[in-house]
Amino acid sequence: MKKFNITIAGGGSTYTPGIVLMLMEESYRFPIGEIRLYDNLASRQEPIGEAMKILLKERHPEITFSYTTDPEEAFTGIDFVFAHIRVGLYAMRELDEKIPLKYNVVGQETCGPGGLAYGMRSIGGVLEVLDYMEKYSPNAWMLNYSNPAAIVAEATRRLRPNSKIINICDMPVALENIMANILGLESRKEMIVRYYGLNHFGWWTSITDKNGKDLMPELKAFVKEKGYAKETEDYQHRAQSWKDTYLMAKDVYALDPSTVPNTYLKYYLLQDEVVKHSNKEYTRANEVMDSREKEVFGTARAIIEKGSADGYTFATGAHATFIVDLACALAFNTKERMLLIVPNNGAISNFDDDAMVEIPCLVGSEGPEPLSIGTIPTFQKGLMEQQVAVEKLTVDAWMEHSYLKMHQALTLSKTVPSASVAKKILDELIEANREYWPELK
Ligand code: NAD
Ligand code: G6P
Ligand code: MN
Repeated sequence: MKKFNITIAGGGSTYTPGIVLMLMEESYRFPIGEIRLYDNLASRQEPIGEAMKILLKERHPEITFSYTTDPEEAFTGIDFVFAHIRVGLYAMRELDEKIPLKYNVVGQETCGPGGLAYGMRSIGGVLEVLDYMEKYSPNAWMLNYSNPAAIVAEATRRLRPNSKIINICDMPVALENIMANILGLESRKEMIVRYYGLNHFGWWTSITDKNGKDLMPELKAFVKEKGYAKETEDYQHRAQSWKDTYLMAKDVYALDPSTVPNTYLKYYLLQDEVVKHSNKEYTRANEVMDSREKEVFGTARAIIEKGSADGYTFATGAHATFIVDLACALAFNTKERMLLIVPNNGAISNFDDDAMVEIPCLVGSEGPEPLSIGTIPTFQKGLMEQQVAVEKLTVDAWMEHSYLKMHQALTLSKTVPSASVAKKILDELIEANREYWPELK
């Protein structure tokens, strides 16, 4: 059987060890020849790279492993790039969150002004990785987690329309795991879901079991009272702030009880509540630096010090499973049904063809085949049109170096109260992002 060569771009990411572990666990169904890590920051990648070298040598010596900052070495002779880069690192995430909050506007990694700021940093980084892949391995697929996925997807749709990149998100998968748990199912794969929206901006319209039994009534009864606040083994979203988000999904649900919502909608629909409960001095970036970053790098350093990974592990979970499932679907033409971010092209019949939407697709060796959604109601359509325009304006601003387009994008965001507040936030974001954004005129 063919063995696949994978490059993980953003080798120094806190998610890299989980994905490496998952690739090892799943190698019986997805045979791996080689894993390479690539990062543009050697000091960040080195501890993860050294720890993975020790771990793989002990547990899967048949897998060739290396890590590098050299693009040619990283991307020559590979089948897949799994990408999760963070341009500007947590230091810039912290500013994305804290600058809007000064003006009582949502401060979040991917939503509102912070998400747009992150988009302006990410587009160039993701294109760079994609171009390296295409230069050195023109037939490879890039499976991209790098956020903000909605803006990155719109940018790659426009700027690299023929590239083999698929933009993905783990939130629906993580929520479906919780739903399965609420419904007493062994696995989310027992559910057949219908879902539509944008990235971090969507709704489930139908969930049945494989015999067609409607599971929505039982699920809604839970969501109505508790959102998705069910004790599960969701390591990735275990912090109290995530639990609060899961609970708040009940208030989002109340706005349309015919569907169940993605948790991220709270930033657009309950923005005042979110701001009220935010700590302007200590945001999610601080929480992540104090928890996940410390744990992952702490474990990596402990492995290096001991010279052995014996007794050490890293968290895997939905995030890692999903990307391996997607690679399998592409490699083996499985036609697995997965939620992906793809051009609408008529799938939602009363929505723009050229919007990037998150919808179910059948995935085979040619890539995703989106399923037809039909028409969507006025509430969702209105929200989505506004948000798609914000994302498109941000990509316009990046391409045209346009201050005006970026000011329009922030002003149009449902999280921002007025053009004057948008301008104040934008001017601070420009200052903070001098090193990363194109110069806006
Ligand atoms: P992190 O800061 O720990 O890791 C990111 C790594 O990317 C760093 O080592 C950094 O040096 C590297 N990097 C930055 N620019 C690069 C470039 N141009 N080329 C190569 N490497 C580069 O971040 P993290 O918290 O582990 O998250 C990684 C990314 O994954 C973020 O974008 C995050 O938002 C995203 N993410 C997405 C989803 C999703 O649902 N789509 C889920 C989880 C994480
Ligand atoms: C979810 C989202 C990701 C996001 C992550 C943030 O999994 O789907 O897009 O990056 O949460 O998690 P964090 O722990 O970094 O706040
Ligand atoms: Mn996501």
